[in-house]
Amino acid sequence: MTQKGTATLSLSTGGEAIELPVISGTMGPDVVDIRKLHAKSGLFTYDPGFLSTASNSSEITFIDGGKGVLLYRGYPIEQLARQCDFIEICYLLLHGELPKATEKTEFDGVIKHHTMLHEQLVKLFSGFRRDAHPMAVMVGVVGALSAFYHDALDISDASHRELSAMRLIAKMPTIAAMAYKYNIGQPYVYPRNDLSYAENFLHMMFSLPTERYKADPKIVRALDRILILHADHEQNASTSTVRLAGSSGANPFACIAAGIACLWGPAHGGANEACLHMLEEIGDVSRINDYIKRAKDPDENYRLMGFGHRVYKNFDPRAKLMRETCHEVLNVLDLENDRLFKLALELERIALEDDYFISRKLYPNVDFYSGIVQRALGIPTIMFTAIFAMARTVGWVAQWNEMISDPDYKIGRPRQLYTGTPMRDVPTDFRN
Ligand code: CMC
Repeated sequence: MTQKGTATLSLSTGGEAIELPVISGTMGPDVVDIRKLHAKSGLFTYDPGFLSTASNSSEITFIDGGKGVLLYRGYPIEQLARQCDFIEICYLLLHGELPKATEKTEFDGVIKHHTMLHEQLVKLFSGFRRDAHPMAVMVGVVGALSAFYHDALDISDASHRELSAMRLIAKMPTIAAMAYKYNIGQPYVYPRNDLSYAENFLHMMFSLPTERYKADPKIVRALDRILILHADHEQNASTSTVRLAGSSGANPFACIAAGIACLWGPAHGGANEACLHMLEEIGDVSRINDYIKRAKDPDENYRLMGFGHRVYKNFDPRAKLMRETCHEVLNVLDLENDRLFKLALELERIALEDDYFISRKLYPNVDFYSGIVQRALGIPTIMFTAIFAMARTVGWVAQWNEMISDPDYKIGRPRQLYTGTPMRDVPTDFRN
């Protein structure tokens, strides 16, 4: 981070022009450092939704939404998705470099050592209703981890942070699969350390005491790609939530539980589930135009799920890769004539030719395709967002750790534009 120069802000209040530093990163737009703005002018900036505001600096992930670029630690997502597996991506996001073979073996060994849950924690699941959504269970159980693994909660100690990070990454698939098994009333399946991260998750989801599930390597690879593509995405809503929660010094399990809660919303990670529901509701190609019409009608509060992105305004590189995987998986599983898949392709075609979507730069995003892939893999719709949470956990902990390691980090405390009643006195007779 280098200071490039100073920007001069001319304020329309008629006061003196104010000089503020301009800071450059290694890539991307420069930023105006407004930290001293209030002290110099008495003014705050106003930016609901963070449309023009960088909340922090970070070395982890870079996005150029205009060009459709996504880099993890400088590496393009296309190369990472084709040449690496999810464990290598986890190492990269956490440590800044891709692991050598021995480093990967050691890292993978540590993750595998932590995949099981404390048995008392397993009992916690039975406190939930069977029909609870897996994301509701995830929020609760992940938050509860701090009640079980409090031997390493000193966030000022790097070794504690590392251990908590490894526990979170290792236990997330176990928690997600148990939430599913509990939901459908099947016995829990414990993790197997001879399997890869993705294959172990499929094993815990689909094996039964009576029948062991053997995953097709192409299916394992498809799930691994879903995990890679969702692993981090710089300062999105859930990551910002994790950072904000963590900025108060809260423990990592509580922070990740907050991230999961934020991710659940349909405008964020919940979009993959919402997209599948939308496709099911449309039901038939002949009804697509009615739904497009609804999405375009300003009087209807209706959006096409799986379309649009705050940052990507030309294409989402993850969507391109996921689209590729989508075609591969449907081909392998002989599902190319699947009703919902054909419907999705037709919706994609119509929306991409429609002026409303073109002019607003609304393209299918990663969740448009990831839902279709997951459905083809036999993953039930209610699990889609839980899988997103599983993948994003490494990004959340990497970003949380980066923030805590920065000696200059401060508690996050936005300001506001107050629009309520001006100051007034409490009437002595207000009860009459
Ligand atoms: N369908 C129809 N119209 C849309 C859509 C959509 N999916 N998304 C945006 N618009 C319209 C919106 O109505 C507005 O129109 P107008 O200018 O006439 O008022 C314009 O496009 C700009 O919308 P916006 O709300 O200002 O855009 P945003 O950048 O704040 O929102 C978004 C981004 C992803 C929340 C939004 O596009 C959306 O709700 N998409 C559907 C949900 C979805 O698929 N989310 C997953 C995102 S990818 C996974 C992730 O990273 O979490």
